[in-house]
Amino acid sequence: MMKKTVGLGVAASVVLAGGLAVAELREGYVYFEPSSEEHPLDEIISGREFRDDATRALQEDDFENPGFLSLEEGEELWSTVDGSENKSCESCHGDVAEGMAGVGSTYPKLMAQGGKTTLTNIENQINTCRTERMGAEAYKYDKPQLTGLTVLIKNVDRGEPVNVSTEGDYESWFKKGEELYYTRVGQLDMSCAHCHEEHYGEYIRADHLSQGQTNGFPTYRFKWQGMGSLHRRFSGCMKNIRGVPYAKGSDEFLALELYTAWRGQGLPVETPSVRN
Ligand code: HEC
Ligand code: HEC
Repeated sequence: MMKKTVGLGVAASVVLAGGLAVAELREGYVYFEPSSEEHPLDEIISGREFRDDATRALQEDDFENPGFLSLEEGEELWSTVDGSENKSCESCHGDVAEGMAGVGSTYPKLMAQGGKTTLTNIENQINTCRTERMGAEAYKYDKPQLTGLTVLIKNVDRGEPVNVSTEGDYESWFKKGEELYYTRVGQLDMSCAHCHEEHYGEYIRADHLSQGQTNGFPTYRFKWQGMGSLHRRFSGCMKNIRGVPYAKGSDEFLALELYTAWRGQGLPVETPSVRN
């Protein structure tokens, strides 16, 4: 385990000064025990526990949850023929609930892509199937098509515990993700751990800081007035500390995706989640 960052940097204290107040998590909040003693968190808590009653209620209502519009778009695309091979996802994978069972909760995974084995998330895997097997163009990151299919696939595993591999060939990716998580970046010289490990449960301006868990992505955000991928969220957090974000779908964000998924190992998949 890497050494954790201790305390807040000078710049960070300035940002957090004044607005820093510890809020109680609501009574009876759900948490999970970490799988090993080396885990950096004492308890693993989904981001939903930090949101207000109305936001949580919206997430739990499949008819009202706006994320389901995105899922429906994915459903339609699943059986739509596209590309030079005249195939749809369904042609090869069949019914999504069967073909994609156990997939969403276990990504990112090492998969073949462009002739080599590399760490791949659901978004990149969808594009690999499109370009390498369908003769179709890749979807752009965070376009409704790619997000819709990702929501559809992750939602098949809703309620299943996040269960990513971190050993063997995964280890170098895992270490890289861990290093990124604890590296200070940006003008504010902060790491992910500053906010999501040392200060979760506290308020930063009007926002109740969570552990930065990833089990609800892609998510519907009021602020975005729409859906967004996990890499969009990573990017936003890096911009907030005035850092230069890595590209969506890049090896850096994939490594971070693996590492953050492991920090939430055991949390149920909640896609599509709702956030403020
Ligand atoms: C021509 C057949 C074909 C088509 C069409 C196809 N795929 Fe695939 N897909 C595959 C194969 C083969 C694999 C397994 C790749 C491997 O194991 O390296 C795969 C793997 C996947 C996986 C990972 C599954 C796992 O168990 O980890 C996902 C997710 C996926 N495809 C999504 C899609 C989506 C979404 C579409 C439509 C946009 C699609 N695929 C279209 C053949 C296809
Ligand atoms: C200055 C504090 C700060 C830093 C540093 C920061 N974040 Fe965040 N992050 C937030 C806030 C505020 C939110 C929205 C409220 C929440 O869920 O915590 C958020 C949300 C998130 C979420 C969404 C959680 C959910 O359940 O919807 C993820 C994932 C995340 N951050 C990951 C990261 C990663 C990875 C890094 C490092 C690259 C990082 N954050 C750095 C403040 C920060």
